[in-house]
Amino acid sequence: MLRLRSLLLLLFSHLAHSMLLGWVESPGYPSGYLPHASSNWSRCAPIGHILSIRLIHLDLEDSKDCENDAVKVFSNGNLISVLCGKKEFEELQANVNPSLTSSSGGCLSLSFESDYSNVHRHTGFRGFYTVQDYDECEDDPDNQCTQFCHNFIGGYYCSCRHGYHLDKDKHTCTVSCSEDLSGLSQGEVSSPSWPGSYAENANCWYTLSVEAHLQLELHFSEVFDVEQSPDGQCIDTLKIETPSGTLGPFCGHTPPPSPYLTHSHKVKIHFTSDGFGSNKGFTFHFQTRDKVCLADVIPHSTVTPQKPEYRPGEKVTVTCDLGYFPNTKGVNAFSSEYVTSCHSTGIWVPHFPCEPVDCGFPNIPEDGILKLVGDNPQTQYEDQILFTCNSNYYTLEGNDTYTCSANGEWISRGGKTEMPKCTPICGIPTKNIASAGRILGGEKAKLGEIPWHLFIREPSRGGATLINDRWAVTAAHVVENTEETSLRLYGGLVDGSKTRNTQSNVVVMESDRIIIHPNYAVGTEERINFDNDIALIRLASRVNFGPNLIPICLPDANRGLLISEQGTVSGWGLTENRKTTNKNLVLAQMLQYAHIGVYSLEQCEDTPYMSDDKRMIFTNNMFCAGAPGKDSCQFDSGGPFVLPMLSSSQRPFYLTGIVSWGSPCQEKKYKGYYTKVENYVDWIKETIDKVDSSEI
Ligand code: ARG
Repeated sequence: MLRLRSLLLLLFSHLAHSMLLGWVESPGYPSGYLPHASSNWSRCAPIGHILSIRLIHLDLEDSKDCENDAVKVFSNGNLISVLCGKKEFEELQANVNPSLTSSSGGCLSLSFESDYSNVHRHTGFRGFYTVQDYDECEDDPDNQCTQFCHNFIGGYYCSCRHGYHLDKDKHTCTVSCSEDLSGLSQGEVSSPSWPGSYAENANCWYTLSVEAHLQLELHFSEVFDVEQSPDGQCIDTLKIETPSGTLGPFCGHTPPPSPYLTHSHKVKIHFTSDGFGSNKGFTFHFQTRDKVCLADVIPHSTVTPQKPEYRPGEKVTVTCDLGYFPNTKGVNAFSSEYVTSCHSTGIWVPHFPCEPVDCGFPNIPEDGILKLVGDNPQTQYEDQILFTCNSNYYTLEGNDTYTCSANGEWISRGGKTEMPKCTPICGIPTKNIASAGRILGGEKAKLGEIPWHLFIREPSRGGATLINDRWAVTAAHVVENTEETSLRLYGGLVDGSKTRNTQSNVVVMESDRIIIHPNYAVGTEERINFDNDIALIRLASRVNFGPNLIPICLPDANRGLLISEQGTVSGWGLTENRKTTNKNLVLAQMLQYAHIGVYSLEQCEDTPYMSDDKRMIFTNNMFCAGAPGKDSCQFDSGGPFVLPMLSSSQRPFYLTGIVSWGSPCQEKKYKGYYTKVENYVDWIKETIDKVDSSEI
């Protein structure tokens, strides 16, 4: 009886503001459901409404987690309740029904299932469902009405207090406070409701605009009160906007600087407030003044004469700072200063910005050996760049750091404008000769031990010496009948027979210039004078150094030679045939070397005879050297005599002599004559510089 009354009460209380739509119950209710029974139910609420299920009866088989028989309720597909067992009406009302509610405009579904068996008969469940209006004003936390909210069946709307209107977003109550004061040359502007407290959610734009030759001057009242958080952040804001920038936000009790000269004939004051607070706001008076020009508008410059401000018509000279030039877009681009005059609109005409000089990418050779550290160097005034050599066979000559100078040139730390150079490291082989070599009386060289020795096979067999990555020296008589561009040299080898083998690592070099010393007497038939027996060979392209191909150093121009100083001569010339007992000399296949000593002047002056009456001529441009059983020989010509001797631990090695002539090897006098290279160092350097610099 009690139950019926409460049921009726429930029905009526619900129906007072909701609509009963129907009933939902288990199959066979109330006589009881069968095994393997199931049923599904689903309904959706109209927009602005919610759907509810009220269970008034529940009697299912009870089981752990409702595994056997269960009724499940879903809201928009999400499980919100699983029920089984027996529950009294009061318990359903108190604990179950309040959760069986859809979202606004959402859907509820219910599914019932029983398993294969029931120990006792169970009646099942029954409930009714209703729709009712959803009260957004009360229940929706997302409702954003800033002032009043009104619920109606199926929706809601916002409204505002007197003096406010609803903003475009239909939720925010705001005030009409924007004012266009264009054309007024003076007036007052105040926050809404001044001197009362300003409105919430205000977004006011005050537009001031006067003639272009005038500027606006703002006088703020000291009474200033714009909401500020305790940590100093502006909650409500006042900003002053001009075409050249924005001042503010201002808040708290400190008004903007006053009077404030805007230097502009157009100013916008922007004021915003949030939804809370009761602050007074601001007020200011505005008026106009003639525009003036200011001196500090062109960065990186000074202006003469110096004044705090300039009247229209006044002229000044703008001088860009050191390293800066006016960007005149082509007019008079080479001066660091220009004259400009103050226009009535407060701007300088002309107005050229001062821009830093750009030194550009430095001019470095394309061979890729000298390079910059870093990929995209900055090249403007005072920027720095760092040079390095791209190969271990070179060393950087000069400073590595250059700075972009005020006149647009790269300047080294030492004050030079020439770029640094990567010069080859000379005279330091990667392999060292250990044995004291006993050519004639020679020893076989191993690859890399004499890496500067180049081999000339044709037209006349001889040697040459690499002195940098583009030049070699030889004896003049070796190349005197050779065309400049037809000489082929081989480097990086000790086996002279390998030159025909394209598979080997032999480096083949072609000449593009042959420069015989100007004082060498070319073409003499029966030569008794080998004075100035030296020639320079320029290679057609730069050679890549490697462990077996390294240049030698040139000696100092006035080094001088000591008697019996020991050096090393090398070559592919004639050597005694050690295999056979006959005295024939044979050409060396492998590069030979021998350590020999410098002879005294007296010994050298005692020159061999060409014929009975003709004696070879000895000059100060030669020296002679040899050792018992050791000498250079025919076809060694043009090859190097180096100091110190190659078994020495001293570095570097210097090209001291060039194999030139000597007493006939068969005579076994072991006395060879060498071009004295120190006498030609200046000629070599000057010639190389002249030819290389005339190269484009
Ligand atoms: N003139 C010879 C040549 O063309 C070099 C002779 C060197 N003779 C000597 N005994 N060192 O290969």
